[in-house]
Amino acid sequence: MNPPILAPSLLAGDHGALAADARAVSDLGLSYLHLDMMDAHFVPNLSFGPQTLAALRRHGSKLFFDTHLMLSEPQKYIDPFAKAGADRITIHIEPDYDHVAALEAIKDLGIKGGIALNPDTPAEMILPVLRHVDLVLVMTVQPGFGGQAFREDTLPKMAKIFEWRKAKGLDYRIEVDGGIDEATAKECRAQGADTFVAGTSFFAARDRKAFAAAFAAL
Ligand code: DX5
Ligand code: ZN
Repeated sequence: MNPPILAPSLLAGDHGALAADARAVSDLGLSYLHLDMMDAHFVPNLSFGPQTLAALRRHGSKLFFDTHLMLSEPQKYIDPFAKAGADRITIHIEPDYDHVAALEAIKDLGIKGGIALNPDTPAEMILPVLRHVDLVLVMTVQPGFGGQAFREDTLPKMAKIFEWRKAKGLDYRIEVDGGIDEATAKECRAQGADTFVAGTSFFAARDRKAFAAAFAAL
């Protein structure tokens, strides 16, 4: 199993002070930041854009930008997000486009690529793209909003994706996103998850140092 990584989600941060919130993450000694892009089409909400990543870079952030595109046509936005500073671009399996071509385009830009799947999407849907990804993002809530309750019914899917990795000799990371706190992270860890997105729980934590330490010890 890969060592655990905590990726705080800036969606739950102060949208009037994003650069300061990103700095608070790096000041804790963390190296990942999860950035959620929404298009009011694939999900019923809006959030950030490439200009947000560029601004965070301009303000000095050296964090690994774990960029989650909740877009119906993500293939059209790979270049702008890569130019703006994305270190990994994760796209969803549900919309209809050439997933493999998009993932290869991401890799050609010298960054990592991930595939995401919604809670009601069967794991088998991602089988054709597994060989082309550095990460599988198992959504543990229906995407679009922070602060939702973790869906326990996604746990068997993580286990399956974890088993496939070994059986197929692949080396993608397994990320979980939505309703993750210290307790639900433990449940996911037990199924093989290694990368933990935490929005609400991270920004609401009274002691963020202790919170980060708990994830490091998963
Ligand atoms: C939800 C986003 C998540 C969100 C998670 O659509 O993909 O990254 O920020 O937020 P919490 O941790 O509050 O569930
Ligand atoms: Zn996300």
